Amino acid sequence: MKKVGFVGWRGMVGSVLMQRMQEERDFALIESHFYSTSSAGGAGPVIDGKPTPALKDANSIEALRAMDVIISCQGGDYTNAVFPKLRDSGWNGYWIDAASSLRMKDDAVIILDPVNRHVIDAALARGVRNYIGGNCTNSILLMGVGGLFRAGLVDWVSSMTYQAASGGGANHMRELLKGMGVVHAAVADELATPASAILEIDRKVAASIREDVPTEFFGAPLAGGLIPWIDAQLDNGQSKEEWKGQAEVNKMLGNAAPESVVPVDGLCVRIGAMRCHSLALTIKLKRDLPLGEIETLIRGGNDWVKWVPNDRAITVKELTPAAITGGLQIGVGRVRKLNLGPEYVSAFVIGDQLLWGAAEPLRRMLRILLE
Ligand code: HSE
Repeated sequence: MKKVGFVGWRGMVGSVLMQRMQEERDFALIESHFYSTSSAGGAGPVIDGKPTPALKDANSIEALRAMDVIISCQGGDYTNAVFPKLRDSGWNGYWIDAASSLRMKDDAVIILDPVNRHVIDAALARGVRNYIGGNCTNSILLMGVGGLFRAGLVDWVSSMTYQAASGGGANHMRELLKGMGVVHAAVADELATPASAILEIDRKVAASIREDVPTEFFGAPLAGGLIPWIDAQLDNGQSKEEWKGQAEVNKMLGNAAPESVVPVDGLCVRIGAMRCHSLALTIKLKRDLPLGEIETLIRGGNDWVKWVPNDRAITVKELTPAAITGGLQIGVGRVRKLNLGPEYVSAFVIGDQLLWGAAEPLRRMLRILLE
């Protein structure tokens, strides 16, 4: 049995990974070892009803070197601090990571096997040892409309995102909820009185959003609003999140040659959803394809595409965070030809940011290593 070490398994992404691995009985196939940066020697978790060995030191290169595979959900700072030392020590095992630190390195592959299994298999065959989960928005984009990319039909994509609080982390989710409570509390009395004036309610709400909603983690009030910037500012005017779109999507698809690069760009916006990221896409196809063929290609992308017909009643029921959250299905709907021309198609893609956007590709990569 392969020895698999887990680092960062108690955090939000790590916890979702643990949950999914237990659901899929992955732990029965491996010898699992759990690491901690803060409580080495403490009791390991109970997995499938059985205790695991005492926690090992996640900062000890010696302790990490004993593993065949390491899966880290500990974050980029940990990867930057530990991974180079581990490789310098001569460790030749597989490193599977949710953090972005290594994604764009030449000796790393961005993993999303329902979309790029061919890229992963080719990398395994040439001895690549670093397999890194993609940015959540890009993984959801490709899980949604990967069928069009696979058919070589995409000329370019404009991707306008609506990203959930969970993309920031657990504290950000809590801040969103606290903010919702603050806004509600500011007008709870008036809301209980049907006759109260809506403009007076609105005035109080606006003041509450400006002055009282907590902003410690997001840096701006999210409850009752949105934030049209995610991650660092780059010199070219893009946010880092926006830059990742083209860079990562093309790397995931194995489009290495400059002439094969598909342009992907758009604005990334934080909204008050809990854990579902959405994308409003404008896709420029290479030719005018009938809508029926477009549907067939999108549906055929992978087993998790949930096709939602472009019908109002079905869309508002099925293509929302309320419908999609907590599950593996990727909703794809609002597909229609735009007034811009017959090759211009819209699509709305939505997925759970913590599942396909973070934890699921990691456990599936482990399964590939066990095949
Ligand atoms: N950077 C993403 C976000 C999450 O902030 O929503 C991680 O992929």
